[in-house]
Amino acid sequence: MSEQGEVLWFTGLSGSGKSTTAHALVEPLRAFGRKVELLDGDELRKTISRGLGFSREDRIANIQRIVFICKLLSRNGVTVIVSAITPYAEMREHARAELPGYVEIFVDCPLEECERRDVKGLYAKARKAEIPQFTGIGDPYETPEQPDIVIRTHVDEVESNVALIMDYMTTKTGRSEAV
Ligand code: ADX
Repeated sequence: MSEQGEVLWFTGLSGSGKSTTAHALVEPLRAFGRKVELLDGDELRKTISRGLGFSREDRIANIQRIVFICKLLSRNGVTVIVSAITPYAEMREHARAELPGYVEIFVDCPLEECERRDVKGLYAKARKAEIPQFTGIGDPYETPEQPDIVIRTHVDEVESNVALIMDYMTTKTGRSEAV
């Protein structure tokens, strides 16, 4: 039987640095001997969640689908990295309850900084009410109360955040390096 893989779940505002950190984590995890899959919110919304919008119901459906994929992969020993806003506490509780290897990584970056970065130009649109239910503006982001790891992308560099997560993997997960 395969060992249970971890599910490293990045939650945070749009533009907080979830995807950047998630991508940077792939190679160190592979070098550590893990089979790795990265599930990126933007990509999933073009594939398994195509057609879903940003109402509460649709966001919950989106996360439920991602959790399902994570379950299949992680029970076969794959280390899964997820990057999705996952704005509501109940979504994260669902993920934690369903996934034995769930590790919640809160990408803590102030709204003002995400808005200043505005990588995709979506905050500007949201402020003009062109996107009515944008997370942090017209729709809530419920701050995680008990994340396993917190990274602060407005303070620390990508490399040190990756190092922090790798440190957690080596010391907390109880799985030794694969041979
Ligand atoms: S989640 O709420 O269901 O977890 P998800 O991570 O899949 O969100 O998708 C978020 C991405 O969709 C954002 O990074 C952004 O590019 C885009 N997006 C489009 N509309 C919205 C919106 N109303 N709120 C948040 N993100 C949006």
